[in-house]
Amino acid sequence: MRMVDVITKKRDGHELSDKEIEFFVKGYVEGKIPDYQVSALLMAILFKGMSDREIVTLTDLMEHSGDVMDLSSVKGVTVDKHSTGGVGDKTTLALGPMVAACGAVLAKMSGRGLGHTGGTLDKLESIPGLNVFVSEEHFLKQVNDIGIAVVGQTGTLVPADKKLYALRDVTGTVESTPLIASSVMSKKLASGSHCILLDVKFGNGAFMKDIESAKHLATIMCKIGNALGRDTRAVLTDMDQPLGFAVGNSLEVKEAIATLHGKGPKDFTELCLRSGAIMLEQAKIAKNEEEALKMLHKVIEDGSAFNKFKEMVKAQGGDVSYIDHPEKFEVSKNVVEIRASKAGYVKQIEALRIGENAMRLGAGRETFDDVIDMSAGIVLAKKVGDKVNVGDLLCTAYTNKDEYAEVMKDIKEAFVIVDEFVKVPPTVHDYIR
Ligand code: URA
Repeated sequence: MRMVDVITKKRDGHELSDKEIEFFVKGYVEGKIPDYQVSALLMAILFKGMSDREIVTLTDLMEHSGDVMDLSSVKGVTVDKHSTGGVGDKTTLALGPMVAACGAVLAKMSGRGLGHTGGTLDKLESIPGLNVFVSEEHFLKQVNDIGIAVVGQTGTLVPADKKLYALRDVTGTVESTPLIASSVMSKKLASGSHCILLDVKFGNGAFMKDIESAKHLATIMCKIGNALGRDTRAVLTDMDQPLGFAVGNSLEVKEAIATLHGKGPKDFTELCLRSGAIMLEQAKIAKNEEEALKMLHKVIEDGSAFNKFKEMVKAQGGDVSYIDHPEKFEVSKNVVEIRASKAGYVKQIEALRIGENAMRLGAGRETFDDVIDMSAGIVLAKKVGDKVNVGDLLCTAYTNKDEYAEVMKDIKEAFVIVDEFVKVPPTVHDYIR
C-alpha cells in the first residue's frame, strides 16, 4: 500500500477501507509515514469528511495506539464525563462527588487548561497538598475504596492523538468534525469506563459556535462510543455566558463546595443535577431520571456528596480544612469591583472574553509553561436575564498583578446590557443518546 494512493482516494471523495485507515494510523505512530503526507490526508478529510464507519475505525485504532486503562479490577459500574471545554466549568468537582455518593464509580483522568478554558487538574491543585499525579495502583485502590478519583493521565494513552493533534494544530485542520470526534473519543475510550457522558458546549466561549454544529459533533461521538461498546450519551449546553459565577481556580473550587452544600448558582446546579441523573441511569443505579434526581437531591441535603468530595481530597493528599473552611483559600491582593454604567437587562456575558481576561489576570496559561495564580479570576454578580441599575455590581475581579486597568475595561465590555427584557436561558438545551 502507498500513502499517496490513500491521500488521492480521500481527495477524490471516496471512503477509505479499514486496512487503509490502519495503514496510515500505524504508519504515522511508528514514524514510517512523514508529516507532510499525513498533513495532506488530514486536509482531504477536512474537505471530504468521513463516513460513520471510517470514523469508528479511526477512533478504535487511535484508542489502541498506546496503553489503555484497565479498570477490570474496579468493582461496580464505572462512569466518566467529558466536557468539550468551557469557561467556569467546574462540573467534575461537584458532579463527581454527587454521583459517587449515589454509588456510581468515577475513575476519571482529566486535563490541564490552556487559553480561555480552565482545566480540572489545575482547579484541584489549588487545594493545598492535593496530588493529581498518583500511581496507577493508588488510583485503582482509591476508586475501589471510595468510588472516586480525579487524576492526571498516567502511561502513554493514545499517542496517535498526541501526534495527530499537534499536526492538526499547525496545518489548519483542527476544525474537522470527524477528527475532533475521533480525538476526543479515543481518549475517553482509552480511559476505560463503561459509561460516558459528553457535555458538548456551544456558543461564544465554546469550540462549537452554534447548536447545530454541537449536535452534529455530539451525535457522531455518541455513535462512536456506542459502536465500540460503551453506553455513550451527550448533553448540549450553553456557553454564551460563563457557567455559574466563578471563573478561576480556587474561586471555582469554592463555588463547587457551595454547590455540594446545595448553595450553588442555579445554572451550574441544574447542569450537575441533569448530568448526574443521566449518569445514574447509565450506571443502572436509578431506573429513570426522576428517581436519579431524588437520589442526587438527597445526597446534597444529607451532606454525603460534600463528604465524598472531602474523602477524595484526603485520599489525594489535600488539606481538607480548606474544604471545611473555604475562607482559608488565599485571596488575591487586588480585589476590583466592576460596576454598571448603563441600566437594563443583561443579554450576554461574552464567555470567551471573560475566560481570556481571567487568564490575563493570572488564572490561566497562554502557553503550557506558564505558571497559574490559583487565587486570580472573576466572580460574576449578574447573569444573563438579570436586571441591572446604574452602579450595580457586575462582577469582582481578583489578581496579584499590578497592571490591570486595561483588563478591567475589557471585562466590563463583555457584559452586553440592553433595554428590553431578556429571558433567562436554559443551561441544558438537548440530550442525545
Ligand atoms: N479536544 C480534543 O481533545 N481534540 C480535538 O480535536 C478538539 C478538542
